[in-house]
Amino acid sequence: MPIIRRLPDNLVNQIAAGEVVERPAAAVKELVENALDAGARRIDVTLRDGGKALLSVADDGCGMEPEQLALSVERHATSKLPDGDLTDIRTLGFRGEALPSIGAVSRLTITSRTDAADHASAILVEGGTVHPVGPAPGGLGTRVEVRDLFFATPARLKFLKGSRTESQHAVDVVERLAMAHPHVAFTVTDEGRTPVRLTSCTGEEEVARLGRLGAVLGREFQENAIPVDAERAGVRLVGHIGLPTYNKPTSAGQYLFVNGRPVKDRLMVGAVRGAYADFLARDRHPVLALFLTLNPHDVDVNVHPAKTEVRFRDQALIRGLIVGALKHALAAAGHRASTTVAADTLASLTPRVAPQTSLFWEPQRPTAPPPYAQQHHAPPPVNREMAEAAWQFQAPQMRTASAPADFAPAARMEEADAIAATAPSFPLGAARAQLHATYIVAQTDNGIVIVDQHAAHERLVYERMKKEMLGDGVKRQGLLIPEVVELDPADAERVGERSHELAEMGLVLESFGSGAVVVREVPAMLGARADVRGLVRDIADELAEMGDAHALKEKLDAICSRMACHGSVRAGRPMNVEEMNALLRQMEATPHSGQCNHGRPTYVELKLGDIERLFGRR
Ligand SMILES: Nc1ncnc2c1ncn2[C@@H]1O[C@H](COP(=O)(O)OP(=O)(O)OP(=O)(O)O)[C@@H](O)[C@H]1O
Ligand SMILES: [Mg+2]
Repeated sequence: MPIIRRLPDNLVNQIAAGEVVERPAAAVKELVENALDAGARRIDVTLRDGGKALLSVADDGCGMEPEQLALSVERHATSKLPDGDLTDIRTLGFRGEALPSIGAVSRLTITSRTDAADHASAILVEGGTVHPVGPAPGGLGTRVEVRDLFFATPARLKFLKGSRTESQHAVDVVERLAMAHPHVAFTVTDEGRTPVRLTSCTGEEEVARLGRLGAVLGREFQENAIPVDAERAGVRLVGHIGLPTYNKPTSAGQYLFVNGRPVKDRLMVGAVRGAYADFLARDRHPVLALFLTLNPHDVDVNVHPAKTEVRFRDQALIRGLIVGALKHALAAAGHRASTTVAADTLASLTPRVAPQTSLFWEPQRPTAPPPYAQQHHAPPPVNREMAEAAWQFQAPQMRTASAPADFAPAARMEEADAIAATAPSFPLGAARAQLHATYIVAQTDNGIVIVDQHAAHERLVYERMKKEMLGDGVKRQGLLIPEVVELDPADAERVGERSHELAEMGLVLESFGSGAVVVREVPAMLGARADVRGLVRDIADELAEMGDAHALKEKLDAICSRMACHGSVRAGRPMNVEEMNALLRQMEATPHSGQCNHGRPTYVELKLGDIERLFGRR
């Protein structure tokens, strides 16, 4: 019979550490949260070897008396639940677990001094062994030093990544917390570098917040952000959201907070997606920082050991508040009115513009209903699809604010006429004009075809990439001048590690110091004017999202979309008649070219009969 026994404290702490302290960045998060809870105005983080050899967090907060210091490293000892009320949590910490857990798996020194004390005191915990508190030199506030993290649990040590990656994670953690606390100054120092240096932002709440967001997310965000400020039933939502045109290929630029706590919350993410659904293609994501403040009784933060998840009491309220506030802010920014009129007009055409199957090649329709069809409030899929097609008509104003609305000049029109007159009739017709540098309008024997050049190109790149990879390999084109692309150090490392696989796809690059790669060749199919910089950045984002587990080939579809987005036929690029016709002919010759990689149509066809009905002639 197995004997049940109580585990010794130290083992219990090590088990807790397994949940709470996943990597150095998790320890940094706990310590910075403690500093914020202690009312610090300035927090300095130091890392050595990505935090593996040393991580320390120094603050100018309230400090601890010697007896308190001894208690702070005891399990389940906390000053943050004075009334023992788990439904009234007003601090970032509340479990009384972080310090004992960290102490169980490292060499932990805490030095602290309060206002009232005439000297500082320190305590050392080594792999769970607690040494007595003693006097020590030190200023006001608290300094926590963690050395040799995981020395006591070598199994965990093995899972850590290189120091640059670990350090990047720690930087991310600090930046995230800093966004919610603009009045606090932060630095992160890492072996002589200072990747984070944030001075305290002053001024009114909104001004300070935008200042801090700009400092963390960059000036571009600051310039492209719209403020949000809304309240419903005592729940307040503030923050800044990026214009739809300022979007990213992943949701990594979305920062969500509940009562000052960075969270990953599916409800909030879903609400954001819903609010932007009419403004952004499904594979693009907005950049934003949203801060939700509500009565602690209305949200349960005791859901996840690392406190990154929450549960709302009234989910519908939260969702409604976010969707409403974001839509309102986006509309106020002037985009919405222009997108609805055409949507309604075209939606009314729906039954008659279903894709024609009489062509000799088979444009593939998505077989599964598109994801939006499952949304409870969405109209039937076909309708919605047309609305989306209609959105595409309006999209150029949002996507390419500065691109000229170029109808082909008259001379070119004549040229097109001539070509059309002599050309044999093609299923996708003869190109007659390019509108908004985004849509090709072609005349067929009995109607008109409107092609989304970007979506079509994306599909062509994907199909061609698949074919070339199966055959002799992807054709490459050398750059006259190799291009150096600067990236986040972590991104640069990730891209560098994959250079072998990328070369198979026609993208030849190598690491270039830390934080950059140099690109020498690109896939020939992208054309001479490919945007190399944008391409590499997008691929870096894709790699970050997909993690180490997958081979690039498994994600060919996603990689190709990213590539096509930066090819020379993207939206907003003017094309001449030959180029347009070449694209149409390529589409006819390519299987599955009737939809882009995300299931959107690449073209719509209106038969003359449809157009006549539209004008009431029939
Ligand atoms: N930087 C600091 N300044 C002042 N007091 C601190 C500091 N760090 C920790 N303490 C004190 O030590 C106690 C224990 O800290 P610990 O992080 O282990 O638990 P907690 O913050 O209460 O809860 P959690 O485990 O959720 O973080 C805190 O409740 C707080 O009173
Ligand atoms: Mg804590």
